[in-house]
Amino acid sequence: MNYILALDQGTTSSRAILFDENTHPVAQAQQEFEQIYPSPGHVEHDPEAIWASQLETAQQAIEKSGVDVEDVAAIGITNQRETVILWEKETGKPVYNAIVWQSRITDPICQKLKADGHEKTIREKTGLVVDAYFSGTKVQYILDSVEGLRERAEKGEILFGTVDSFLIWRLTGGTVHATDVTNACRTMLFNLHTMQWDDELLEILNIPRCILPEVKPSSGVFGETKAELFGRAIPIAGCAGDQQAATFGQACFEVGDAKNTYGTGCFMLLNTGSKPVISENGLLTTVGWQIGDEVTYCLEGSIFIAGAVVQWLRDGLGLIEESVGVEALAATEPDNGGVYFVPAFVGLGTPYWDSSARGTIIGLTRGSTAGHLARAAVESMSFQTMDVLETMQKDSGVTLARLKVDGGATVNNELLSFQAGLLDVPVTRPKFQETTALGAAFLAGLAVGVWKDLESIASHWEVDKEFQPDMSDKERSEHTANWHRAVKASRNWVV
Ligand code: G3P
Repeated sequence: MNYILALDQGTTSSRAILFDENTHPVAQAQQEFEQIYPSPGHVEHDPEAIWASQLETAQQAIEKSGVDVEDVAAIGITNQRETVILWEKETGKPVYNAIVWQSRITDPICQKLKADGHEKTIREKTGLVVDAYFSGTKVQYILDSVEGLRERAEKGEILFGTVDSFLIWRLTGGTVHATDVTNACRTMLFNLHTMQWDDELLEILNIPRCILPEVKPSSGVFGETKAELFGRAIPIAGCAGDQQAATFGQACFEVGDAKNTYGTGCFMLLNTGSKPVISENGLLTTVGWQIGDEVTYCLEGSIFIAGAVVQWLRDGLGLIEESVGVEALAATEPDNGGVYFVPAFVGLGTPYWDSSARGTIIGLTRGSTAGHLARAAVESMSFQTMDVLETMQKDSGVTLARLKVDGGATVNNELLSFQAGLLDVPVTRPKFQETTALGAAFLAGLAVGVWKDLESIASHWEVDKEFQPDMSDKERSEHTANWHRAVKASRNWVV
């Protein structure tokens, strides 16, 4: 039997899952790590905590499984995207904390890029909107914040990577500096049409080319792990940003297939085929994956806060002890009692792209309860998804037959029923919901021959439950109107 080890380095935790060739998860391990908030709207991670938690969980998963490491055919990496790490080439030591995708610290740089008229070029070349979400301005910020760093970078002493690159560098003992196309295309430095780093963009963002990793297809051998880490050198044979990996793990292989992942944030990706489609309405154009020379593109809607709103009820308000408790608390009320919650903690992503928005709870009365608030928080994931889906259907001209869903929050049946009703589209939850890790395993397994093609991968995808729309038109339009009033109230808050 062959096994594939998937490393899933997410925003709040690192996980490792060992899959056998029938896609059964034989062992897994997970560790949360610290979120650092140096100032409002600014989010960082300690790169050493990312590395330590990822390495330990990988070692634990192999150990727990009892599988002989000789039978681990390959490693697939998937990761929180856009998060930026810079480190010394010589020592591998990070020179600054990781600036996390959610961080708004580079908003002023983005405002300047817009004022200088670069929006159109960036949009056309990268498929992205100018926003602090993406890596490029974070790299510029670090280069200009640490004294002497820019000079050192220009001399070739400093390397940049998204989290996948940093892990590949560490896993290979500092011998491979690479990333894959799905991560590269989130940096604002990568040209979607040429599939190369772009000199004009590097100049606009003032980033020296010598710090960039080599860009490779998502499925293929990147290098081998240092033998002492796992007892033998294992090929790293797949790599993709977590949302693209989930799209692959959900077997969205046909044009028009879409998935929505409810994680820290919520990300909907629609397969648009072999040509990039540039959105007119605030969706992102992104690479889904590259296998050999074949590139599949997607349209993406990005919601910054989804499951994180439940964490906030837990950690910020202390309303629940564990995240799963939100379902029971929400169930203490039959409806939201007129309360709407726009969790714009770090601004709003698709379709608004509004950095100035902030979290807003509206419609409170003397009769509002913790149950109403919990319900409004859970419903906010569905409302934000509704805004994204509407934009997606408008932009692509595709009417979705169904929406495949995954991610931690999809254990919540109430959420998925409400979601189906609000979208008026069936919502399908697969049997195996760790689709992000599974996607990374598939990409690696394809490269080393554990799975032979996309068809054999698709044959492993099975439905757990399909939620049918069950909401009257009147209820849907009332909810939609109230939600949009709440969104309006959340905007233009930071001036
Ligand atoms: O773009 C950010 C995304 O990759 C983060 O995903 O699963 O850590 O919320 P997640």
